[in-house]
Amino acid sequence: MDIAQLLPKPFFVLAPMDDVTDTVFRRIVASNAAPDLFFTEFVNVDGLQSPGRPRILPKLEFTSTEKPIIAQLWGKNPENYYKSAKDIVQMGFAGVDINMGCPAKPIIKNGCCSALINNRPLAMEIIKATQAGVEDAIKEQGKGKKTPHHFPVSVKTRLGFSSKDLSWHEDLLKQKLSMLTIHGRTTAEMSKVPADWEAIGEIAKMRTSLSAETLIVGNGDVISRQHGLELAEKYGLDGIMIGRGIFHDPFIFSKDSKWEEYTKEQKLAMYTKHVKLFANTWPDGQRNIHMLNKFCKVYIEGFPGAKELREKLMDADSTDKLLALLEG
Ligand SMILES: Cc1cc2nc3c(=O)[nH]c(=O)nc-3n(C[C@H](O)[C@H](O)[C@H](O)COP(=O)(O)O)c2cc1C
Repeated sequence: MDIAQLLPKPFFVLAPMDDVTDTVFRRIVASNAAPDLFFTEFVNVDGLQSPGRPRILPKLEFTSTEKPIIAQLWGKNPENYYKSAKDIVQMGFAGVDINMGCPAKPIIKNGCCSALINNRPLAMEIIKATQAGVEDAIKEQGKGKKTPHHFPVSVKTRLGFSSKDLSWHEDLLKQKLSMLTIHGRTTAEMSKVPADWEAIGEIAKMRTSLSAETLIVGNGDVISRQHGLELAEKYGLDGIMIGRGIFHDPFIFSKDSKWEEYTKEQKLAMYTKHVKLFANTWPDGQRNIHMLNKFCKVYIEGFPGAKELREKLMDADSTDKLLALLEG
């Protein structure tokens, strides 16, 4: 059964954020208020299928509390998408997503992610290779089993490259994706202008005639669960993805967020829990300690002395030093 079809309507998704939404942070979010669906950070298929694979595998770690979870892939080589899609099925993920939205200059210079908006033949080849990898892995797994199994293949993208271009979404919808996530900005706009939800709504309307079964997820500047519910209703969307909103409210997926009332002691306790989980999960430096600084800004905020404490914490270069400061 396709996990995407089992989700509530509208469903909420924690956005993939590189060097932010690793298994550690996803577990913190799950223990505060879980979204309906998680994504991994983006994982490079060309690296995954190279001798550098062990360095990439930490990005694909997850636990049972972070379920259902979709693995997000990026890269250039269709053959590596095929092999990586097979890996993703075997690793127990609920689906595989292809990043066709990242606007980072070095990445698009290399023809990857949102540069694929301008290279439709390669984009379509990548989708087909991923779908074929999934199909073959399921066939291999399901030998002798009667129940057909559907494993979702989805794409996350933007409104266009230099300008809004709905012919791109038309091409994507023809690929019968199980889900299409649209960040309501073009590549050229980076994050500089407000997300265009009217355009996301236009794509949701196109879906009805082109691929009724594809779920449409809107993304960009959502600041609360209520805000997301209103946008989903107004624009006829199946799901809402939230990224940076989690930095303003770690309980953003809750129907009744407690963050406003959180005391200094509760905030310190949450950061302590996060640092301990980080230390236990990555004991051999698999992830850079400076990843934690983003969270320091989230938790160590809004109480007297927060700025001074934050400065000391952000200078610490080990989890032991962080914990000594937090518990001292
Ligand atoms: C630090 C950071 C890292 C990101 N990494 C990814 C990524 O790995 N894959 C991806 O599809 N989008 C990535 N994004 C984009 C987000 O998933 C999301 O589309 C964007 O932040 C807009 O949503 P928001 O306004 O809710 O944050 C990243 C964004 C940020 C801020």
